[in-house]
Amino acid sequence: MSKLIVRALQGEVTEKIPFWLMRQAGRYLPEYRAIRKDVGSFLEMCYTPSLASEVTLQPIHRFHMDAAIIFSDILVIPHALGQHVEFIAGEGPKLEAISHAEQINQLGKKSIHETLSPVYEALKIVKGELPHQTALIGFSGAPWTLACYMIEGGGSKNFDSVRRFAYSNEIAFSKLIRLLEDTIADYLSAKIEAGADVIQLFDSWAGVASACQFQQWIIEPTRRIVAAVKQKHPHIPIIGFPRAAGIHYPEYAKQTGVDAVSIDYQTPLAWVRDHISIPLQGNLDPLLLAGDMEGTIVKIESMIRCMKDRPYIFNLGHGVVPYTPVEHVERLAEHIRNIRR
Ligand code: CP3
Repeated sequence: MSKLIVRALQGEVTEKIPFWLMRQAGRYLPEYRAIRKDVGSFLEMCYTPSLASEVTLQPIHRFHMDAAIIFSDILVIPHALGQHVEFIAGEGPKLEAISHAEQINQLGKKSIHETLSPVYEALKIVKGELPHQTALIGFSGAPWTLACYMIEGGGSKNFDSVRRFAYSNEIAFSKLIRLLEDTIADYLSAKIEAGADVIQLFDSWAGVASACQFQQWIIEPTRRIVAAVKQKHPHIPIIGFPRAAGIHYPEYAKQTGVDAVSIDYQTPLAWVRDHISIPLQGNLDPLLLAGDMEGTIVKIESMIRCMKDRPYIFNLGHGVVPYTPVEHVERLAEHIRNIRR
């Protein structure tokens, strides 16, 4: 029998509700911090298969989620394409910003797999250790979000430089997006071949695109990636997460070919349910998981009632925040596991 989460992604209204949490491996876990403090850099963690596999499994051992997400980062793609990427403690990622077309021509000179093979190794290790009912999720950043970091050179409030670059250097921007599409499709296929059962595409900055940019640089590239991956691996479900897409969610679900959409915490679940027919994932505000759990359990119950007749995967509307008490995640896991529809 297929894994619970895969059945939900195939459109089944499962009796039990599958769940996992974005950023389920990370700093809120003392066992993660214990490993992290002895490793020089975050990228070194991502590229050391024994460490990446161990931290991937940490939340599974504690909470028995229905899926493990391979520990890595979306920014390994710009790194593998030859861009300088580092993670500075307390500040987040820093990249060598792209400001002109010539820099784009320098990207992707060598095979990405030279840099990314440790990620595939980590997937193989995790696959060998996961309980048979637990799915393994492989992921990538989507082209728009990766371009945001690559052009801005790090995080930003609105990524103005990216919207500007896309308007004023459309040919160069299009070249970057195409390079990312091909690279991501290739990377996701390699992850599937290494054992991923499900794929998630993170478009964390979908919400900063203008309406026409959303169609051109989010929907269309995602559709091409989904088609390329499905051509090779038609049975692997793909979840899209265009965070803060707002009213664009229904078109994204309709046009990209993803099997399910993950919903951010700003968007009402009932609205999405009524406007999208494919399976949904989400969307508890991560801050509720970090706060008073009595109110949070009431909220979780109302979300599950809202989705009672629909294929649904419980998740947060964004990643677990580092100050989330471990006992809260324990309580959430306990609660979801005991629900029967
Ligand atoms: O979900 C998981 O448990 C798997 C691991 C994972 C990480 N990053 C580990 C990480 C995943 C799926 C990501 C995706 C990711 N990375 C996204 C998309 C999801 C989202 O949050 O919107 C984005 C935008 C990034 C880029 C990124 N990586 C930023 C902005 C930062 C700094 C902010 C922060 O939270 O520290 C990171 C670093 C990062 N990625 C950490 C972890 C555990 C913290 C670094 C550390 O432990 O030293």
